[in-house]
Amino acid sequence: MQPRHFLDIDALPRQTLRAILDDAHAMKALGRSHLPDKVNVRQGAVLAMIFEQPSTRTRVSFEVAMHELGGTSIMLSPADMQIGRGETIADTARVLSRYVDAIVLRTGTHGKLLELAAHATVPVINGLTNLSHPCQVMADVMTFEEKKGSIEGATVAWLGDANNVAASWVHGAARFGYALKLGCPEKFKPVPELLSWAKAEGASVKVGHDPHAAARNADCVVTDVWVSMGDGEDKKKRKSLLKPFQVDRAVMAAAKPDAIFMHCLPAHRGDEVTAEVIDGPQSVVWDEAENRLQVQKAILAWCLDASRASPSSAGSSGSVARGAAKGRPERVGAK
Ligand code: CP
Ligand code: NVA
Repeated sequence: MQPRHFLDIDALPRQTLRAILDDAHAMKALGRSHLPDKVNVRQGAVLAMIFEQPSTRTRVSFEVAMHELGGTSIMLSPADMQIGRGETIADTARVLSRYVDAIVLRTGTHGKLLELAAHATVPVINGLTNLSHPCQVMADVMTFEEKKGSIEGATVAWLGDANNVAASWVHGAARFGYALKLGCPEKFKPVPELLSWAKAEGASVKVGHDPHAAARNADCVVTDVWVSMGDGEDKKKRKSLLKPFQVDRAVMAAAKPDAIFMHCLPAHRGDEVTAEVIDGPQSVVWDEAENRLQVQKAILAWCLDASRASPSSAGSSGSVARGAAKGRPERVGAK
């Protein structure tokens, strides 16, 4: 039987994503008590977490999620593994599959995630790659639903770099039915393949270069760092191009009066967002961070529970944001 990988939002059908979010809301309502009785995860199940890049939220929320589900986790740094000395991802996948029940990978090379998934016989979960961050956007959609009700038909504005998190927001527009308006500099807009995919899926995704136009009448304004992990070069140039897309009071004023502000964190106050916005009354960033834990539990429960709805037609392997495997650019934002 094929393992249930959670690789990308576009790789899963909307019913599966909906079921995971419904579970996340239910798990939050249930709190920490008696969770293992309610979900069908083998007690003592083990999650391996390979992080090639730093993490606070993803790492801790997966670890706590596994604990609350009645399992345990092992944090692995590639520098301490034989991967660091050239053992292949494929062999690592084969071996880890003999020990653990699921694997989370954070990597700057999306192709590694796909290779791991291709050779693992246990579920593989995308803990962020250079191309996407699906767990984050699941938590973001959950947070929107908590604050404002159904996200279907709502308008989300993304300002700044069309990075990995933005790509998952594009995927989500197709699967959850919200309109996405991206305000980005020309140099950092989404790659054409991603926009063509959104169009073919019937998603409402628009790209413009005016931050206030992007934010106009939005129910939610989202941004992220201007320099992502792996974007080491030419930070000054990036920042100067992205400066006009800072989320400040004027941008929030263009959105609906009751619009919420989201940021996956870590944030750089004074760059992509002003302190008065991220620390202000419209910001929901702490609930957003908290919901990573709820969504992680629901994703793990789905991956580890064979009795739940199965992935289907959207295909467990199909992802538009996959640069490396399909010879596309490795980065979502155009360079
Ligand atoms: N938002 C997010 O993924 O945070 P970390 O990098 O701390 O995991
Ligand atoms: N776009 C950011 C997200 C961090 C959670 C990065 O990739 O560094």
